[in-house]
Amino acid sequence: MLKKVFRYGKENNIKTVLSLLVLILAVIFQTLPFVFVYQVIHKVIGKAEITPEFILFSSGGVLLSLIIYSFLYTKGLDISHKAAYGTLMNLRVSLQEKMEKLPLGVIDERGTGAFKKIFVDDIESLELLYAHAIPEGSSNLFVVIVVYIFLFVFSWKLAFLAAVTIPMGFIAMKIMYSLGMKYMDAYYKAGRFMNNTIIEYVHGMEVVKVFNKSSESYEKLKNSVIGFRDYTLLWYKVCWPMMAVYGAVLPCTLFANLPIGSYLVISGFVELEEYVLVLCLSLSLGIPLLRALTFIPTFPQIAYKIEQIEKIMGAPPLKESCDGFNGKDHRIEYRDVTFGYGEKEVLHNINLTIEPGSSTALVGESGSGKSTLAKLLVHYYDVKSGQISIGGQNITDISLESLNELVSYVSQDNFLFNMSLMENIRLGKPDATDEEVMEAAKKAQCGFIKKMPRGFDTPAGDAGNQLSGGEKQRITLARAILKDAPIVVLDEATAFSDPENEEKIASVLAEFIKKKTLVIIAHRLSTVKNASQICVLKDGEIVERGTHEELLENGHEYKKLWLSHVKSMEWGITKEEEL
Ligand SMILES: Nc1ncnc2c1ncn2[C@@H]1O[C@H](COP(=O)(O)OP(=O)(O)OP(=O)(O)O)[C@@H](O)[C@H]1O
Ligand SMILES: [Mg+2]
Repeated sequence: MLKKVFRYGKENNIKTVLSLLVLILAVIFQTLPFVFVYQVIHKVIGKAEITPEFILFSSGGVLLSLIIYSFLYTKGLDISHKAAYGTLMNLRVSLQEKMEKLPLGVIDERGTGAFKKIFVDDIESLELLYAHAIPEGSSNLFVVIVVYIFLFVFSWKLAFLAAVTIPMGFIAMKIMYSLGMKYMDAYYKAGRFMNNTIIEYVHGMEVVKVFNKSSESYEKLKNSVIGFRDYTLLWYKVCWPMMAVYGAVLPCTLFANLPIGSYLVISGFVELEEYVLVLCLSLSLGIPLLRALTFIPTFPQIAYKIEQIEKIMGAPPLKESCDGFNGKDHRIEYRDVTFGYGEKEVLHNINLTIEPGSSTALVGESGSGKSTLAKLLVHYYDVKSGQISIGGQNITDISLESLNELVSYVSQDNFLFNMSLMENIRLGKPDATDEEVMEAAKKAQCGFIKKMPRGFDTPAGDAGNQLSGGEKQRITLARAILKDAPIVVLDEATAFSDPENEEKIASVLAEFIKKKTLVIIAHRLSTVKNASQICVLKDGEIVERGTHEELLENGHEYKKLWLSHVKSMEWGITKEEEL
């Protein structure tokens, strides 16, 4: 575990060790006053003369020790906190880098709330480990061990009496640890569920209101909160008795020493002075022992959280190489591709060739696998079997960065970051000038931006919530236009647009996609009827392919889709006429 703990510290590990050394020194100074107390008692027992110098020396020594202790303890914690927050930053950065390499399925499976919990809460709670448990707990424990060794060398009988409660305390601690770990999984899962439910509740607020589901979703939220409370309390209920036992027993160094030790002195087995020194030092162990113990109840939680972080860090990443793109052209080939989200297979044995510079439309019923086919090309997931290549190079042999440069993907679910619209579009080409961004926005029919009070500086709002569906789509389209990658994948890129805007976008797109390899997905078949080839998907298989004319002549499924499209268009026109 210690190895895992220090793995993310990197340059901060030196600071953690330094803070440990400073804190050890601090605890030694905290113990020193008990040595002065012993000296005073030693003089009193020996009936030696107590001079004013001696009084000054003793009380001055006690005061100075405590001042130095206080200074060093604060300094040690200051260094340990710097090391801790540096380590937490490294952990978050490593986790973010890991997330970028994970298949989206792994992220979907755990849920947004669970990731928020790990990124924010769990990692934050490791501050206790890095800033306190390691340096503070270990330094206190170290001094306790050193004092015990000294006591054993000095007077093994009395030292043994001072240590009898330690095994009892450790047994209680071990029981608490095992119980804690046993209940930790349920407790952690309840926390994860609550986080996911809260995020779902906030995101789904619109649906909740429209369908009058407030009480149902509130109930789910309430139950998740109650569940988390119950599991937390259960954890404490199970662990508290043992915590109380070792908390009381472990620091109780006088438990056997006081009665049996005094008997040994009276019986002449041990010298009185020896006894007094052992008593003083045993008393000095109380505070460091308690300090070292404070962190022990948190260890099961910390260990579990590290395990959860490790699980994500250890999840198999996407198959990826560091190589750039070195394919001979932009021909896309799906060879015997099979894929499923989890167990359920959604694409079966797909074979598809997309010639460079040509356009391929994917059409088919909802759920037939069109978006999945597109997502595989941008390597959001690894295929289950088969392979996808560009210009003859398997996409698993292309780094994600290079693939990203090669393909512009406008997904069905448009996502805007909560920054200005200018910056949102600029994501397509980070070094683009303002003029280039505005030009791309113009091409994507983003005239609405200029009408906004702050124009291109308008923040997109939380995940783009301040814009309409069509506006968001046009922003992401502008992003793709700006990126100007040789391969373009458009998944329902104009689905939300009104007919007038759609027509304008279509003419701009026609210009934009010239000489590009295009994959386009659309339900409105009229937008794709000029494609070089149209593939009809049904239940995860390509059942028909050809040009619009060929398919109208020979294709059964396509004809069905086309007729229903024409019918819906006619229905729209009739409705307009009626109005
Ligand atoms: N993240 C996911 N996890 C599990 N199953 C998924 C996921 N995304 C899609 N599916 C399932 O995979 C199948 C294909 O979905 P896909 O999104 O590719 O369909 P589509 O043809 O694009 O549909 P639409 O026209 O409605 O966009 C569907 O049965 C869907 O339920
Ligand atoms: Mg889709």
